[in-house]
Amino acid sequence: MTIEKLEPVAIEQSLREHIAGARAAIETRLATIVPTAQTWPARLHEAQRHALLSPGKRFRPLLCVFVAKGAGFDGEAAIDVGCVAEMVHAASLILDDLPCMDDADLRRNQPTTHIAFDESTAILTATALLNRAFGVLSRLENVEAEKRIELVDLLSYAVGSKGLIAGQMADLANSDSNASIAEIERLNTLKTGALFDFSVEGAAVIAGSKAARRAALKDFSHHLGLAFQLMDDVKDTVMTDQQAEKSVGRDVGKATILALTGSAAAMERLSGYIDSAKSALARAKLSNEPTLNAVLDAQFSFLKS
Ligand code: IPE
Ligand code: IPE
Ligand code: MG
Ligand code: MG
Ligand code: MG
Repeated sequence: MTIEKLEPVAIEQSLREHIAGARAAIETRLATIVPTAQTWPARLHEAQRHALLSPGKRFRPLLCVFVAKGAGFDGEAAIDVGCVAEMVHAASLILDDLPCMDDADLRRNQPTTHIAFDESTAILTATALLNRAFGVLSRLENVEAEKRIELVDLLSYAVGSKGLIAGQMADLANSDSNASIAEIERLNTLKTGALFDFSVEGAAVIAGSKAARRAALKDFSHHLGLAFQLMDDVKDTVMTDQQAEKSVGRDVGKATILALTGSAAAMERLSGYIDSAKSALARAKLSNEPTLNAVLDAQFSFLKS
């Protein structure tokens, strides 16, 4: 396997501008969702801003915004739902990086929250971000109460003991070289896929999508989550900290699809996941949404086998 940073995919200028516009709106909203760094207790809010506003790819909010758009919803609420996913994601990364978990010191090219601050502040920061995320959903503007309640329910499931947290729990116990592919896929579906599910299904909820489209979108986010975590595991193995802009090699010794099957089969599986995600997107009748395709291409295009 070779993995290299390719030239950015040739994305048409108008699409690039459109995505940059959405990204700017996401950044602006994230910066106002959490209190200023001067707000008491300042250290906690500084840490929140450190974790949330550091330069991530914003893949989950972009996904939410452009799935919603493809499904016919262009309102501000899609940005807020996406930002909620980003808040939960930031919280999960703070916890994932702690010494008791992956013990990482670099994240998004910056010291991880427990290094920049301390472990207690990091744990409290993650908890505060998680709690606030539900409040943002409850106050979405121009979204019916019934939909807001559904979103709160979806998020509590995605981040709960049958979702992301279950996946992290299983990941901590994951050193069994006899683990099957099905077991690893289940783990990846929980630790990473659950938040992708929320980002995509959340978009479908605010867009008022019908059951058939929602089912196809669920299949889309499921395969996207599997692809994303497998790609991340590849990065963890072949990239340096500088290339990945985070501490790598933290999952050595864990049962991953890459470790289990070897790189050629893993890359084949990865393209199978991406194909399945794309065909689900076609079933959802969203495969012609150009910005969504461009956002997806930008994530996966640097992998070359
Ligand atoms: C990293 O997620 C954690 C995984 C689920 C693999 P991202 O690769 O989206 O990280 P950021 O948000 O861009 O830093
Ligand atoms: C983390 O997976 C997924 C989360 C739910 C936080 P990883 O441990 O592989 O994520 P990175 O590589 O540290 O970003
Ligand atoms: Mg981890
Ligand atoms: Mg990690
Ligand atoms: Mg990783």
